[in-house]
Amino acid sequence: MHPSALVGLLAFAAAASAVPAKNHHAHSDPAIKNLKSNIKNVVILVMENRSLDNLLGGQTIKGLENPINNGPFCNPFNLTDPSQGLACSAAKDFDSVLNDPDHAIYGNNFEFFGEFTPDNDAIASGKLVPTQKGFVNEQMRLYSSKVNKTDLATQVMHYYTEEQVPVLTSLVQNYLTFNHWHSDIPGNTDPNRAALVSGTSYGHGLNDAAFSNHGFPQRSIFQQLTETGHSWINYVDPKGGTGPDAGFFNWTYTSGNEDKIQPLANFYTDAAAGELPELTYLNPSCCGVGTTSMHPTGLISDGETLIKGVYDALRAGPQWDDTLFILTFDESGGFHDHVPPPLAPRPDDLTFTLATPNGQNYTFPFNRLGGRIPTLLISPWVSKGYVEQKGTNEHGKTVSYSATSILRTLGYLWDFEPFNPRVKAAASFEHLIRPSHRKNTPSALPDAVAFKKA
Ligand SMILES: *[C@@H]1O[C@H](CO)[C@@H](O)[C@H](O)[C@H]1NC(C)=O
Ligand SMILES: *[C@@H]1O[C@H](CO)[C@@H](O)[C@H](O)[C@H]1NC(C)=O
Ligand SMILES: *[C@@H]1O[C@H](CO)[C@@H](O)[C@H](O)[C@H]1NC(C)=O
Ligand SMILES: *[C@@H]1O[C@H](CO)[C@@H](O)[C@H](O)[C@H]1NC(C)=O
Repeated sequence: MHPSALVGLLAFAAAASAVPAKNHHAHSDPAIKNLKSNIKNVVILVMENRSLDNLLGGQTIKGLENPINNGPFCNPFNLTDPSQGLACSAAKDFDSVLNDPDHAIYGNNFEFFGEFTPDNDAIASGKLVPTQKGFVNEQMRLYSSKVNKTDLATQVMHYYTEEQVPVLTSLVQNYLTFNHWHSDIPGNTDPNRAALVSGTSYGHGLNDAAFSNHGFPQRSIFQQLTETGHSWINYVDPKGGTGPDAGFFNWTYTSGNEDKIQPLANFYTDAAAGELPELTYLNPSCCGVGTTSMHPTGLISDGETLIKGVYDALRAGPQWDDTLFILTFDESGGFHDHVPPPLAPRPDDLTFTLATPNGQNYTFPFNRLGGRIPTLLISPWVSKGYVEQKGTNEHGKTVSYSATSILRTLGYLWDFEPFNPRVKAAASFEHLIRPSHRKNTPSALPDAVAFKKA
């Protein structure tokens, strides 16, 4: 054991009563052994563009830091003109948000730091920290010339109540929710999806053509599993709009594995037949009304219907007792979240430069995480109604979880080394798998409910 891991061990001992698996801690042999002996199938569903404060902001479960438990949180309508007043978090958001909040890297900069081109050195040294006060101002900049300002502020500051999201509410109450889980990159969907499955966006900061042209050379979880004799399928909603995330990588095509990208309908038949692969990776559809990812303007209730469909199929299928279902998001989508994203190690030495609305260029060194996003572990092997706080890295240091925590944990499950320094430094979560198996998991989730659009 690394000497500094002892510090983490001692910290762990103090908190042991709250830990789901007694005597198990992250990166430890007993926790890894327990994970490997109980989990045979992992299912990952990556939804789109919602922050924790937005989507889970109305969940009253203890330990979740959100507007209903800890708020209200407020943003000024205009950062440089306080006389325009404040917009604050409040219950009830719209089922479909018509004015997609800015979630480009510069938009996240403005929302987190109040400027498009914050000083990277000051951020890296900790002198400049995010205030999370620019969300409403940025929504006003984009849309206030044509849309009612109250509605715009509601879109980014309000949150969904437990009644508005009954599927998620049931999952939070029955399974495990992370309080400190961040997207890997403060930017768009494809870079975040690439980081989730390969640990890096390879210097890409926008949804550019390389993603659909199979332009990415780095090792992905899909290549890793194939080369070590493990199975995977990337099931894709045929309406499209996200991924297929396995399709980003040149390897998938040059190695003849594109047949592992399949329509979502196959997921339901494979789940019922007990023929799901070791890794099931699900791409929802995006981004308009009628799509399922929860991305504006798609309905929250349509996303809930997809999540219920996936859960109910897994729960009814013969593989449920060996399954870990990870429900997460790509990024926070420009919706307010009050928790500042932390710094994180760079995955590689690549940077991304883009022009910003103030006329200046901004170069992003990929040295910090994006906004906080909802992430849940759903399995008969996790505690009921448990809220996980921060995790620990391999040196026993307390850090926030992020998308790369998935690769760090799957590396323990399927015996592979971290792909890069970002993955290596990530908190893993194998210790959250309990040594015993619950019998009281709901056999089906409640139906989604449609509500007011705007
Ligand atoms: C904020 O106020 C400043 C100063 O009054 C003004 O120049 C700017 O356009 C305002 N921003 C928005 C988004 O309304
Ligand atoms: C904006 O919408 C709110 C309700 O959403 C309404 O109370 C208010 O009068 C509207 N303002 C304008 C200027 O139309
Ligand atoms: C990726 O693979 C395809 C073959 O499927 C090839 O034509 C293409 O040039 C490759 N792209 C890159 C960027 O390597
Ligand atoms: C921004 O970067 C582009 C491309 O590198 C360059 O052409 C442009 O001059 C830069 N703009 C500024 C304001 O530095």
